Amino acid sequence: MKILVTGGAGFIGSHLVKRLLNEGFSVVCVDNFNNFYDPQVKERNVKNFINNPNFRLYREDIRNFEVLSKIFERERIDKIVHLAAMAGVRNSIRCPSLYTEVNIPGTVNLLELAKKYKISNFVFASSSSVYGGNKKVPFSEDDPVNYPISPYAAAKKAGELICYTYHHLYNLNITCLRFFTVYGPAGRPDMAPYKFTRLVLKGDKILMFGDGSSQRSYTYVDDIIEGISSALDKELGYEIINLGGSELVSLKNFISLIENISGRKAKIKRALEQPGDMPITYADISKAKRLLNYAPRTNLEKGMTIFISWFKKYGK
Ligand SMILES: NC(=O)c1ccc[n+]([C@@H]2O[C@H](COP(=O)([O-])OP(=O)(O)OC[C@H]3O[C@@H](n4cnc5c(N)ncnc54)[C@H](O)[C@@H]3O)[C@@H](O)[C@H]2O)c1
Repeated sequence: MKILVTGGAGFIGSHLVKRLLNEGFSVVCVDNFNNFYDPQVKERNVKNFINNPNFRLYREDIRNFEVLSKIFERERIDKIVHLAAMAGVRNSIRCPSLYTEVNIPGTVNLLELAKKYKISNFVFASSSSVYGGNKKVPFSEDDPVNYPISPYAAAKKAGELICYTYHHLYNLNITCLRFFTVYGPAGRPDMAPYKFTRLVLKGDKILMFGDGSSQRSYTYVDDIIEGISSALDKELGYEIINLGGSELVSLKNFISLIENISGRKAKIKRALEQPGDMPITYADISKAKRLLNYAPRTNLEKGMTIFISWFKKYGK
């Protein structure tokens, strides 16, 4: 069984590749090692499996249909996990066209090839950001998500829509997984768990946007990998499924947790709320439980303890 992981050099992708190789799958990775954050981090992510004979790396761009076509001709791909994307809400507000130019055409390219090569299962990385300013909590897959509040969220929603179209027209099995604030070793440097840990450990000021009452369903990366792996095993037609953590934590309490684990005091400077930021992301995971047997196992305290010790070794 050969699985294509797009974005396999990134944070979630490299954890997934590791897991798939350990389970005996062959893995093809397409990643362009872009500089959204230091590409050296991605080099380090793939270092552990670059010499594995069951792993093949293509340093290519998902926007390049010709190159992707050649990869599909050469490799006999059975399933796809499509993670490659420009990620990050705030950056998408700074450079919106990059997000629509990468995330939407890139996804269409992969769906076209999934159709052509009759791929048995396609997993698409969507995001809790599609819920926008949804007031009803917890967020359920049945809630209307017609009001994305950042270009990133709009592009993810567009991805879900075009996935449905390909399922409808060509009967492809496609599962769109909405990830909720994923953290863990090799985490993304632009995200709160990484940023706040770095600032607390260095004794630098944390800019806390808003009054600290915003809340998140932080999700440990191993739980996300469990969910992806289960979605890959199941041919569900077309489904959208939340993958979130089991606890809801306010920003203030999240910073306190980092202080407690690291034994360092945070220097907090308050700032205005940022446009595009959501006041709450709270996952209803009952559908994931039902369809994927999903049950997050790592609570925030344990996950952040693992992350902070990883950060002390490798973080910058
Ligand atoms: N981390 C989270 O909390 C989170 C939450 C919701 C959704 N997601 C989604 O999950 C996926 C993985 O996120 P991540 O946190 O691991 O981010 P990441 O930035 O670490 O990984 C994305 C990878 O895609 C690659 N990539 C980007 N554009 C590409 C292109 N044009 N061609 C080829 N490769 C390209 C990047 O180089 C990177 O390695 C993304 O689709 C992201 O939007 C992540």
